[in-house]
Amino acid sequence: SLFFTKKKKRPHINTKVDKDKEKVATDFPIEDLGDKKVFCRCWKSNKFPLCDGSHNQHNKETGDNVGPLILKSSEG
Ligand code: FES
Repeated sequence: SLFFTKKKKRPHINTKVDKDKEKVATDFPIEDLGDKKVFCRCWKSNKFPLCDGSHNQHNKETGDNVGPLILKSSEG
């Protein structure tokens, strides 16, 4: 019955980044940002935490609309 159904585990968003860790948190020194850095938000990048464009294939396959966080200097 409805009352005894086990709560279904929902799929992981992170399928490959540091799965041996309890939590993936990344330090990135502000000094290393340079003029522009593009950070992955889809968890599919092979260069995580940086974006490698893998979000494009993910969006194509799933109809999702995810993309990177782009940090860039307003100077220059
Ligand atoms: Fe993940 Fe681009 S590869 S946002």
